[in-house]
Amino acid sequence: MKTHEVREKYLNYFKNNQHAIIPSASIVPQEDPTTLFTGSGMQPMLQFLLGETHPEGVRIVDSQTCFRAEDIDDVGDNRHTTFFEMLGNWSLGDYFKNDQLNWFFEFLTSEVGLDPKKLFVTAFIGDKDAGIEKDEEAAEIWKRLFKAKGIDAKVVDIGSEEDGYKNGMQDGRIFYYDSKKNWWSRAGVPSNMPAGEPGGPDSEVFYEFDYIEHDPSFGLHCHPNCDCGRYMEIGNSVFMQYQKQADGSFKELDQKNIDFGGGLERITAASIDSADMFKIDVLWNIILKLQDLTGKKYQDHVVAKRVIADHLRSAVFMAVDGVVPTNTAQGYVMRRLLRRAIRRGYELGIESNLTTEVAQVVIDEYQQTYPELETNKQLIIEVLRTEENLFRKTLERGIHEFTKRTSELDFSKRPPVPTGQRTELTGKLVFTLFDTYGFPAELSIEEAEKEGVKIQVGWKKDFDKLMLQQKDRSRTATAGQFKGGLAEHSEATTKYHTATHLMYKALRNVLGDHVVQRGSNITNERLRFDFSHGDKMTPEQIAKVEAMVNEVIQKDMPVAYKEMSKDDAFSVGALGAFGEKYPDTVKVYTVGDPDGDYYSKEICGGPHVKHTGLIGKFKIIKEESSSAGVRRIKAVVE
Ligand code: ALA
Repeated sequence: MKTHEVREKYLNYFKNNQHAIIPSASIVPQEDPTTLFTGSGMQPMLQFLLGETHPEGVRIVDSQTCFRAEDIDDVGDNRHTTFFEMLGNWSLGDYFKNDQLNWFFEFLTSEVGLDPKKLFVTAFIGDKDAGIEKDEEAAEIWKRLFKAKGIDAKVVDIGSEEDGYKNGMQDGRIFYYDSKKNWWSRAGVPSNMPAGEPGGPDSEVFYEFDYIEHDPSFGLHCHPNCDCGRYMEIGNSVFMQYQKQADGSFKELDQKNIDFGGGLERITAASIDSADMFKIDVLWNIILKLQDLTGKKYQDHVVAKRVIADHLRSAVFMAVDGVVPTNTAQGYVMRRLLRRAIRRGYELGIESNLTTEVAQVVIDEYQQTYPELETNKQLIIEVLRTEENLFRKTLERGIHEFTKRTSELDFSKRPPVPTGQRTELTGKLVFTLFDTYGFPAELSIEEAEKEGVKIQVGWKKDFDKLMLQQKDRSRTATAGQFKGGLAEHSEATTKYHTATHLMYKALRNVLGDHVVQRGSNITNERLRFDFSHGDKMTPEQIAKVEAMVNEVIQKDMPVAYKEMSKDDAFSVGALGAFGEKYPDTVKVYTVGDPDGDYYSKEICGGPHVKHTGLIGKFKIIKEESSSAGVRRIKAVVE
């Protein structure tokens, strides 16, 4: 099957089971300060899992564009990608375990047509310390489902991953694993979860590539959670059923949720029984383009081509959601992806237009599902072209610098070193060329070999050491950003959330209607807001915005929402965020009287304070440039 068919079938299958289809949220989280990118389908759904009502009801389905930077170094093997789509269906306090497992199994076997004999599943073995029982209910449901397909499914207690490697499959089909494998919360296992955090047991489905022999370098025996590639996880049903209490115990939630996440590309790969995920249509067409551009076969340059295909697909989806290459945050990740891809392309002999040629394929492949790719095509291509030109200049400068530095001793030594005999290329020099000029290590080595420059024995060890030190430095710099790792919904963040609405409206009143939200990031200590505006704000403008917000706070206006269709929301003048896609029914939050004298209306999921008097005194502490044509404000309430 083709990727788009699997997506369509999934959305329609759940639609036929009374789910509302919602569009994918932006790959850059709009209001979540804890991660740079949307990394799972549940991230944009968080507030609804925590009890906010969803405007589209209690059954939701979507396919969410996701990016996981932590997988970047794994790209090159047969199944890791940084970008992927996560199929998601949610029950917000509605259906539970039985319907979920029935539907997912039915979808896989009847709609996608997977052979049930190739499916293996897992369930939670229980956690005595947390007082949570073994999920026998899930195992029973699975037994019944397999039986209906004529398969007598044996249940096996595995326990930990290590036990899995020790004891292997044991002819099982349904496997119990511990909380490291079959418990899901944003904070991991039960003992690590902070008070208030929801989570629950989960049940994963694995597809077996029976032609892949187990690789014992991963562990003695193969089992579903083994990483050798014989079994591939294709979907995870989380039974979000518990909440951690302050005393460490677990309480059942009033609202029991289903949070399902399935890998669209992985299910598609299973549908064609290909352990190499790059053989699915959307990726394979990029690979074919690369074969065209290089005249070299996939099988001769598998890793380079996979890296290019993955990284450039990610970059296109970042560009369409407004990211541009820079040296910080999302922009830094995008720059890294583009440069790695260009480097790999250079190795294969592509010396120009790599990113734009590949972007064209990605846009063609996906524009039917994501029409904004076609609408913003010129912009995407321009962003990539600019970065590619810049990096190619960097490469040229790097080669120039390489030649200069490896020639230095020719002139400084007395008596002069005979022509042709040049400075040794040391690990330190390779590092300097990389760190200062962005010139990749591999290119230094290639260049040295080409030019007959001697390479220091053991250069790699010195280079790696310096790289490690540099990584430590940058890790320290970003640690603050990911601290905590959870988007919380405390009173303080709720205040900032409402303050952001007040400020957005005030900015438009003071600066004009060209002001559109480009990003928002809230912690319990400050708000940060990016918006389109060309010039630096004057002190008078800043004072005016502050005064306007504080006036609304003093008037203690009510804050409330109404649900309405997306079209109605825009026709009553509700504000939205740039590039955000909204479902058909949305919540519109009004500050003031919704039918009479109101201050602002904005499309938003909430939550907000009930009246503005709760916010406190508002103050802008910084106004600066964020990127071309986009300003950034940081503000606090006291
Ligand atoms: N939220 C679950 C996951 O990301 C479905 O795996």
